[in-house]
Amino acid sequence: MLPRPQDDVRESPAANKNSDARSLLRFITCGSVDDGKSTLLGRLLHDLEAVPEDQLATLATDSKRHGTTGAALDMALLVDGLEAEKAQGITIDVAYRFFSTDRRKFIAADTPGHEEYTRNMVTAASTADLAILLVDSTKGLLPQTRRHAFVASLLGVRHVVLAVNKIDIQGYEPAPFRAIVDDFAAICEHLSFATVQAIPISARAGVNLISRSEHTPWYEGPTLLEHLENVVIDRPYGERPFRFPVQMISRRDADFRGFAGTIASGSISVGDEIIVPRTGQQSRIASIVTYDGSLPEASEGQAVTLVLNDHIDVSRGDILADPVDRPRLSEQFQAHVIWFDAVALMAGRGYRLKTETDMVDCTITAIVHMIDIESYAPCLVTTIAMNQIAVCNIATQRPLTFDSYSANRATGNFILIDRATNKTVGAGMIDFPLRRALNLHWQSIDINAEARSSLKHHRSAVVWLTGFSGSGKSTIANQIERRLHAAGRHTYLLDGDNIRHGLNKDLGFTDEDRVENIRRIAEVARLMADAGLIVLVSFISPFASERAMARSLVREGSFVEVFVDTPLEECIRRDPKGLYKKALRGEIAHFTGISSPYERPESPEVYLNTLEAASAELADKVCDYLEANVICQ
Ligand code: ADX
Repeated sequence: MLPRPQDDVRESPAANKNSDARSLLRFITCGSVDDGKSTLLGRLLHDLEAVPEDQLATLATDSKRHGTTGAALDMALLVDGLEAEKAQGITIDVAYRFFSTDRRKFIAADTPGHEEYTRNMVTAASTADLAILLVDSTKGLLPQTRRHAFVASLLGVRHVVLAVNKIDIQGYEPAPFRAIVDDFAAICEHLSFATVQAIPISARAGVNLISRSEHTPWYEGPTLLEHLENVVIDRPYGERPFRFPVQMISRRDADFRGFAGTIASGSISVGDEIIVPRTGQQSRIASIVTYDGSLPEASEGQAVTLVLNDHIDVSRGDILADPVDRPRLSEQFQAHVIWFDAVALMAGRGYRLKTETDMVDCTITAIVHMIDIESYAPCLVTTIAMNQIAVCNIATQRPLTFDSYSANRATGNFILIDRATNKTVGAGMIDFPLRRALNLHWQSIDINAEARSSLKHHRSAVVWLTGFSGSGKSTIANQIERRLHAAGRHTYLLDGDNIRHGLNKDLGFTDEDRVENIRRIAEVARLMADAGLIVLVSFISPFASERAMARSLVREGSFVEVFVDTPLEECIRRDPKGLYKKALRGEIAHFTGISSPYERPESPEVYLNTLEAASAELADKVCDYLEANVICQ
């Protein structure tokens, strides 16, 4: 669900039928910092006289204040909208500009070139038809240029303008231009652009943007504007299969039940058959409702409410589709993932996956490979760092309806959200469903958790103790279990040190191994809770994300996070196993608190301060919480 900016101005066939038949071109400008993206767009808008008068006045003042061009107008300031950017001289968000000529309408997205801001480029590229890739002719192709070219291709941008900038500084010589064109041709072998047009330009001097420059007689191609006006965009409206992600169920009154959303592809008429892939149920379109009344038909880009002939099960997140050409339905698939977050992506870690209208928990089951941005070669890795691109296998907690991204950008993309911080950490493009999943089914079992725990006369629970090594988790967990056992409760204690002797003896203490350690133990705890037990889990479990994942696996209200808070200095002082001494001498790598991070729980159900009370008293506090809130039937 990459955000779709400015949906209101998306071109639709309906709009085309009206008086204004000019076609729409969406493009992005991208490239490295200082390559001249903002200047190019500013210059283009200025020379087309597409800049409102009041903005020109502001530009004159701004140029004096922040500009880098002396007395002349600094074109970059026209599009670098934000104050912070003006001060830093970099673009930090996507700026959309609308303009038109006699031949075409344009939506330009100016995307930032700063290394960390790949996210904005992804957002802008996901709806763009064309990318203007700026290259500074004095520097040649930079890693960021290669990354942006790859991202544009991956996101389905079919047309590229290689704008070789600052050609004036090169004395308008053809050699630097030709060298860059050759370098780019080599890159393009790995990418899937339909057209590439290289143009020698000077964004600052306005060379070859709108009018042909006499300084470059050796260049015979079009100016930038000529190319933007004439490039043939293959967008076969209505020809692709019908897809309608349901955004909202509308129940205006007792008799009305409609499904609201925007048609992602294809078209639909009253009487047409549709299918809900999740259930396989079919129906026909009874009516197509809009704010301006009912329509006989509607197509891609239009926001409508669809009413069906039959009362079938449809929820938000379903995709109403053409029954003859259906989307895929699977809970495992391969996808290209672009990673945005400073915390690396790790195989085995769970995230929230959000599509245009659906949201589901998922696990990255494998990193198939990372794509090296220098060579575009696949590399074997265990983690994916910020701005890297990887092919991953992903498993969702329930089947997802989707298309491959190459078939449909709107129904084939998703974002990944960190469960602990709610931050968007990555974007994905689905390649294809994975087969293995299709042969696996949930078997229904008659005796469930409720039935099992009713025999035990208490409800199940997962009591998750987290804290530093030596914080007192195991001692307290042991006392909790003794008290519960004495009260006739059915329990089991899973302890980090013990489990690492058996089930998890293949795992060490790297971040990836800890993620896998907790994933396995969270699954074991889930099974034991399902068996009706009160499960005590005593693991350092240093990452908030895995603790959130463990919580998500069990019945709401049955997960009790217990933060055993002992300051690190106190753990070092106690050092019951002599490990801190070794770790401080550098003899143990990745030791929590010394050379590996610990993320403190923000709102645990039970907070224990071991400096203020004895372990027996702290154990009582947990038992009292359990009896009062969780396990009583
Ligand atoms: S976790 O971080 O993956 O949750 P876990 O609770 O299973 O850790 O194991 C922690 C125990 O392993 C510690 O109590 C300690 O006895 C031992 N240990 C050995 N090496 C390390 C290390 N590098 N970091 C933390 N604990 C370690």
